[in-house]
Amino acid sequence: MAALLTIALSKGRIFQETLPLLAAAGIVPADDPETSRKLILDTNQPDVKLVIIRATDVPTYVQYGAADVGVAGKDVLLEHGGEGLYEPLDLQIAKCRLMVAGRPDQPPRQSRSRIATKYVNVTRQWFADQGRQVEVIKLYGSMELAPLVGLADYIVDVVDTGNTLKANGLAPLEHIADISSRLIINKAAMKMKHTRIKAIMERMAAAVGA
Ligand code: ATP
Ligand code: PRP
Repeated sequence: MAALLTIALSKGRIFQETLPLLAAAGIVPADDPETSRKLILDTNQPDVKLVIIRATDVPTYVQYGAADVGVAGKDVLLEHGGEGLYEPLDLQIAKCRLMVAGRPDQPPRQSRSRIATKYVNVTRQWFADQGRQVEVIKLYGSMELAPLVGLADYIVDVVDTGNTLKANGLAPLEHIADISSRLIINKAAMKMKHTRIKAIMERMAAAVGA
C-alpha cells in the first residue's frame, strides 16, 4: 500500500465547501465531522485520511508535516506567516474580506487607539505600515463586542455580508485584504509524495475552474 496521505480540514464552512473539490479528486470522507466525534476520518481511499482541527491550527499541522495537505483561509495564512508551506491553489471558497471596523460616528482618538482582533500579527503590520501607533488586544472570537463595551476602539475581523457588523452598530472602515481559502502543502511532502499530491492539485484546480 502507498504511504498514508493526510489532509487537514476544519469543521463547518471549510469542510462543507471543500467536499465537492475533494470529490473531484476522488476522495470521499466516510464520516461527517458534524456528527462524528472522531478526529481522524477514513475516506473511500484506504491510504487517504482526513484530520479535523481548528481552522487556525491547519497551517501548523501542515508546516510540521503532521498533515501533508490542508485547506486554510488566507486570513489564517497571513497571520501564521506561511513558513514551511506551499500555497499552490486558490480554492475560491469561504470568500470574505479582512477589514478594520468600528463605530461609524466615532471621532478619532488623540492617544493610541486600541484594536481588538484574533489577527494580531496582521493588525500590527497593517497599522505599522501606515505609521499609526496602536495597542493590539488579542481575542479569540466575538470581536464585534469589543467596541460596544469599551474594550477597544476598532476591531480587525473578516466581513462577508456585513450583517454581523450592522447588527452591532459597527461599520467596515478599511479594507486589509480579500480572503478565500487556499490549498496548502507541506514542503517535504510535496517532494516525497509528489505524484499523488500533483494529481489531487490538478483535479481540484479543474473543479475550481469549472
Ligand atoms: P477557529 O475555530 O480556528 O477560531 P473560525 O471559527 O474562524 O476558526 P470558521 O468560521 O470555520 O473558523 O472560518 C474558517 C475560514 O472561513 C476563516 O479563516 C475565513 O477565511 C473564512 N470565513 C470566516 N467567516 C466567514 C464568513 N462569514 N463568510 C465567508 N468566509 C468566512
Ligand atoms: C465570522 C466573522 C464575523 C462574521 C462575518 O464569524 O468572525 O463575525 O463571520 O460575516 P458577515 O459579514 O456575513 O456577518 P462566524 O464564523 O461565526 O460566522 P457565521 O455567522 O457565518 O458562523
